[in-house]
Amino acid sequence: RSEMIVATTSEQLRDALADGKKAAKGRGGKGEVGLVPTMGYLHEGHASLLQRARRENDVVALSIFVNPLQFGPNEDFARYPRDAERDLAIARKEGTDVVFMPDVSVMYPRPSQTTVSVSGLTESLCGASRPGHFDGVATVVSKLFHLFDPDRAYFGMKDAQQVAVVRQMTDDLNFRVRIVPCPTLREPDGLAMSSRNVYLSPEEREQALVLSRALGRVDGWLAEPGITGARLQERIVDTIGTAPLAVVDYVEAVTYPGLLPAGDWQPGDGTPLLLALAVKFGRTRLIDN
Ligand code: PAF
Repeated sequence: RSEMIVATTSEQLRDALADGKKAAKGRGGKGEVGLVPTMGYLHEGHASLLQRARRENDVVALSIFVNPLQFGPNEDFARYPRDAERDLAIARKEGTDVVFMPDVSVMYPRPSQTTVSVSGLTESLCGASRPGHFDGVATVVSKLFHLFDPDRAYFGMKDAQQVAVVRQMTDDLNFRVRIVPCPTLREPDGLAMSSRNVYLSPEEREQALVLSRALGRVDGWLAEPGITGARLQERIVDTIGTAPLAVVDYVEAVTYPGLLPAGDWQPGDGTPLLLALAVKFGRTRLIDN
């Protein structure tokens, strides 16, 4: 396999993808492109997406772009962790062919007058506590889909709402890409992997384990007679309440992927249930489900 190419402009990206596809076809492949869109500061969760993309495509593409559009005015855009060298080393190790690392001025060269907005699915959960967040996500992801024209795109299920939103957008706007949801990876003690985990103080990091502990109990609670979505939600809230530093933003029981309220949900309903949460520890907001 040839050297990994790092593109910083859309022209460089187009050339790199064309070269990658041509080389893959020369080796007898189909020239299919798998895209892993990220905001960088890669962890093993991202690496698992790259590994899956490597298995399923001839060309593996990675985007690293901290997208200002999806951060609110009082959120962590400026301090979001960045480490380009480390990211490139991980990308290389996972056999990535093309990395796109544009500056903000490349992605948004002039004030944009177009927003991609998915209604309904974006009104609850993170959409309610982060107004505008999913418009930012849908807009940048549709730009990335146009820039890469990938055959498959890989997203972690830690952000289950994002997966639902991106799927809906892909169907509504006839993107030809296939969205591939991938399982959440966890630290050995259960904490869901996130680039934001580096913000946590040792005490916050310890108490944040309450999230995976609460979710880990769901299987047992499901066996109880009369259990409902609302009861599961309450139990999770109560468990999280045992951690003094935890400030609950939301804990919700909703259908998946429709994200409709599912308080009455019962096992055997035939509808997948999503138990999703966002909880703050100090200034750090973590999500899990
Ligand atoms: O999940 C993320 O890292 C981001 O929301 C994404 C999909 C890369 C869009 O900026």
